[in-house]
Amino acid sequence: MNLLLLGRGKTGSLVAEVAAERKHHTRTLGSEENEGGRALTPEQLSNIDVVIDFTAPHCVLANIEACVRAGKNMVVGTTGWHKEIDRVRALVEQHKTGFVYAANFSVGVNLFLDIARAAAAALNHDYSGQIFERHHVHKKDAPSGTAIAIQQVVRDAATPHDSLEITSFREGEVVGLHEVVLESPADRIYLCHDAKSRRGFAEGAVAAAEWLVGKKGFYDFKDVWREL
Ligand SMILES: NC(=O)c1ccc[n+]([C@@H]2O[C@H](COP(=O)([O-])OP(=O)(O)OC[C@H]3O[C@@H](n4cnc5c(N)ncnc54)[C@H](OP(=O)(O)O)[C@@H]3O)[C@@H](O)[C@H]2O)c1
Repeated sequence: MNLLLLGRGKTGSLVAEVAAERKHHTRTLGSEENEGGRALTPEQLSNIDVVIDFTAPHCVLANIEACVRAGKNMVVGTTGWHKEIDRVRALVEQHKTGFVYAANFSVGVNLFLDIARAAAAALNHDYSGQIFERHHVHKKDAPSGTAIAIQQVVRDAATPHDSLEITSFREGEVVGLHEVVLESPADRIYLCHDAKSRRGFAEGAVAAAEWLVGKKGFYDFKDVWREL
């Protein structure tokens, strides 16, 4: 495939590495070449099969709008824009493109979401719960998109219940650690996912791009990763 990668930061550069290992052709645009999405013209995108975005919350919506309006399929790993999800879904449907997004593209975290969903039953049995997330000091958004995704699956799985509170820590170079703690008068349950590197995110994003070829529609990676 011809992949256009947006962002050559910590995760984007690993996506380029994984895509090259899988024999895809890649071109990468960084912030200096693509301020405000200016490089994403229909001409520039004409031979691109899928665009993969690991940039930043301040620019991701401009990137999405330009690529979707040009009819391009996209995989979006950037977080911090999900309040606009309804508008983006409508844009994707209007332009009949394919779109996969996730707060977390690692298979491990998506398994963890299933575990959290199952554990949500505790909230119907006298348990209260909390979510803790730790990331490196450079992370721009808080709470993390993954913590919000955990909060959402737990809320959807339990009978009506207040959302679990999320506490965020920013320290050192922590790649991403998420904990769900459920507590009753009798005991505590600890669930924990600890990312050792960013490699899992990059592999999931490239696999999602391969899956998306020839597809239309708006997909959350947590609903499709089993098909990869
Ligand atoms: N879904 C997942 O699995 C997952 C996993 C890891 C991270 N993330 C998310 O992905 C995003 C990137 O994370 P990261 O850790 O890789 O951050 P990072 O190291 O800060 O990299 C972001 C890169 O985007 C570039 N950029 C900024 N504006 C741009 C534009 N208009 N066009 C192209 N590139 C642009 C930045 O360039 P400059 O430095 O020149 O500004 C920077 O190199 C964050 O939102 C993070 O939360 C998601």
